[in-house]
Amino acid sequence: MTNEVRIVEVSPRDGLQNEKTLLPPDIKIALIDRLSATGLRTIETTSFVSARWVPQLADAAEVFRSIRKVPGVTYPVLVPNEQGYRIARQAGANEVSVFTAASEAFNRANINASIAESLERFQPVLEEAKAEGVKVRGYVSTALGCPYQGEVPIADVVSVARRLYDMGCYEVSVADTIGVGTPAKARAVLHAVSQEIPMHALAVHFHDTYGQALANILACLEEGVRVVDSAVSGTGGCPYAKGASGNVASEDVVYMLHGMGMQTGINLDMLVATGAWLSGQLNKPTASRVTKARTTTA
Ligand code: HMG
Ligand code: MG
Repeated sequence: MTNEVRIVEVSPRDGLQNEKTLLPPDIKIALIDRLSATGLRTIETTSFVSARWVPQLADAAEVFRSIRKVPGVTYPVLVPNEQGYRIARQAGANEVSVFTAASEAFNRANINASIAESLERFQPVLEEAKAEGVKVRGYVSTALGCPYQGEVPIADVVSVARRLYDMGCYEVSVADTIGVGTPAKARAVLHAVSQEIPMHALAVHFHDTYGQALANILACLEEGVRVVDSAVSGTGGCPYAKGASGNVASEDVVYMLHGMGMQTGINLDMLVATGAWLSGQLNKPTASRVTKARTTTA
């Protein structure tokens, strides 16, 4: 099994979509450009969703057009439907992410659609993307618990993940939207999904509400996953998932991985500097323990 882990940095999208402080486009562009210099290979940059639903990312096209596109780095963007896909393409995006959930009530709150309706909306997106050579990533939210329904049956996670993969998503990210999962459960869900989708096409996405994210990631690494979503400074959360807090901090994930002898290609010092800079821009303390340790003891 490979020692290399790919981090999917989601701070410019998941990180900023739930922040009270609205950052101007030039700060978002500076964030993405700084992240591009750290050695990250995948940076989810923004969302082409309704500005009424997520005002924080209303400047998606401007931001996407203005970032420096570093060769070797991919810059996926979130799209909920064909309309978002088309606007993203006009802005120059050549990788997109579609998102649905394993629980109906959350999906309704988040994108005003049932799971089946959301998958129907993705069909034309995936068809156009295939014709245009655009890669599509898929998210399954509420894989470890739902803010409305509570427990989510593993079979429901598996079936939604399978549909996304069968529709043509090259990678499916299994997401603990509200950060309630614990390691044995995270591992069991990943294991079940990996019976239907090859492990190399799976990613994990943990929010850290209950402080379980690093433990969950470790369990999933042991199960074989090698793609991990995270956000510098532990920013983020879904505005339509009540009680959800930030993503696991990228700095903490990278510190753990390097400590385990795994490779990410990321310069941790630059990542810490970027996380500290972002927490300054947001005017709130970093949620990264590594950044806290390195910036307060220096
Ligand atoms: P709706 O109101 O049901 O949609 O929203 P509609 O089709 O009736 O359209 C309403 C208006 O939105 C129309 O404009 C459309 O043109 C416009 P109006 O005529 O009123 O002026 N519209 C759009 N505008 C820009 N871009 C678009 C778009 N589509 C329609 N793509 C909709 C449905 C999906 C649009 C809405 O619910 C939405 O935008 N939701 C996004 C919610 C969101 O971004 N949530 C956070 C991301 S998911 C997440 O964080 C989870 C994840 O991190 C994994 C995890 O942790 O679980 C990925
Ligand atoms: Mg998320």
